[in-house]
Amino acid sequence: MALYCSVNMTLLQWIYAGRRKWKWKLEMAVLLIIATLCLLIILQTDFQGKKSQTTRQYKVLTKLKPEPQTRPALFLSSAPKCERNLSASEIQGFSTLPMIIQDFLFYQHCRYFPMLLNAPGKCGGPENSADVFLLLAIKSSPSNYERREVLRKTWASERLQSGVWIRTVFISGTTGNGFEKDRLNKLLELENREYQDIVQWDFNDTFFNLTLKQILFLEWMERFCPDVHFLLNGDDDIFANTDNMVEYLMSLGDNDGSKHLFIGHLIQNVGPIRHPASKYYIPKQVHKSDRYPPYCGGGGFLLSRYSSRVIYNMSHSIPLLPIDDVYMGMCLEKAGLAPRSHIGVRTAGLNVPSGQQEANNPCYYREVLLVHRFLPQQIFIMWHEIQREDLDCAKRTTVSEQNKILME
Ligand SMILES: *[C@@H]1O[C@H](CO)[C@@H](O)[C@H](O)[C@H]1NC(C)=O
Ligand SMILES: *[C@@H]1O[C@H](CO)[C@@H](O)[C@H](O)[C@H]1NC(C)=O
Ligand SMILES: *[C@@H]1O[C@H](CO)[C@@H](O)[C@H](O)[C@H]1NC(C)=O
Ligand SMILES: *[C@@H]1O[C@H](CO)[C@@H](O)[C@H](O)[C@H]1NC(C)=O
Repeated sequence: MALYCSVNMTLLQWIYAGRRKWKWKLEMAVLLIIATLCLLIILQTDFQGKKSQTTRQYKVLTKLKPEPQTRPALFLSSAPKCERNLSASEIQGFSTLPMIIQDFLFYQHCRYFPMLLNAPGKCGGPENSADVFLLLAIKSSPSNYERREVLRKTWASERLQSGVWIRTVFISGTTGNGFEKDRLNKLLELENREYQDIVQWDFNDTFFNLTLKQILFLEWMERFCPDVHFLLNGDDDIFANTDNMVEYLMSLGDNDGSKHLFIGHLIQNVGPIRHPASKYYIPKQVHKSDRYPPYCGGGGFLLSRYSSRVIYNMSHSIPLLPIDDVYMGMCLEKAGLAPRSHIGVRTAGLNVPSGQQEANNPCYYREVLLVHRFLPQQIFIMWHEIQREDLDCAKRTTVSEQNKILME
């Protein structure tokens, strides 16, 4: 290009040579313009050269990066929309089933949904995730903004507790349609921008899709936080004494999460509720057996990394059951593992003190691991009450003492 320009200028100089005297102004002007054009062209080609060079470098770099492992296409990007299984309607007695059950059967086979929001750095990247001792995975529907806000400030605050890390992630689907759905998605997006603690998939966040949410989460964990030691899985309306949980988990012989652990409020010797009016109605068409395996009530349970992996593995071969906590029990049973009870977990409300005064007594909550059904304001008050240095509780059974009782 430079060569072409200089030839061009010599040519022009030759043409104008004879008339230099009376045309010098014009000549100067033309030369200036051509010189400017040449300069521009040179700069342009040079820039393009650099650009293609960097593109090439970039391509080499991305090639060097390890290939993503199995399933990412389905998992992170837009999974192909899962279609209704129309032959579900051929199941005997299908038309007599409530709409919600029919809907469940139509979509029972759907396990992959596009991810809308992610918090990939939650555990410092998969390779650093062993630094997280306790990951709190809290099921929260998009509209529960106040609950998430109060949890971030109380028991679910991310912190170094007794020298180990607690991290928090809220797991969500979508609610509503059209404008309402967009509005709530926007809310979660704003929250995630501020706190990086939301993982959201594009499925209808209903009661009967909670198992789906659970399995999607275990898959997410395997990918982004594979080596965290322990996991608390719970609802966003529980009161979890996470200080006590850390104390309890650290007191275990093996506290690196490599052994089986699944504790909560144990429920056993029960079966599906067959009354169509019940929220938990499960007809024979969904679960033939009249028995459920032992399981821990879904308000909240603690498990080790090992057990969460086993459950995820087992889930591949067990059809989804809409009751999420029972489904966990089914996965454990198939793996030959059992859930256990811990007296500190009181999700059924059975052991919650009855009297108003007692129910608000911080001494009670100082000793538990987890209690179900708290309003955001109650959580806020109680969390601060149990931290009070001057709180005078007569006799305190520590979590490790409770643990000893359990071991007997
Ligand atoms: C669709 O439903 C029918 C009837 O329950 C079942 O046999 C079939 O396996 C289902 N298909 C898929 C893809 O899950
Ligand atoms: C679960 O979510 C899917 C995807 O949004 C939806 O089609 C289906 O109706 C939901 N199932 C139930 C039982 O709510
Ligand atoms: C989600 O589920 C609710 C309740 O079952 C239903 O009213 C709504 O239409 C569903 N939305 C979508 C997008 O499937
Ligand atoms: C889960 O399954 C994978 C592959 O089938 C296997 O390599 C792994 O050991 C299993 N993990 C557990 C904890 O069962």
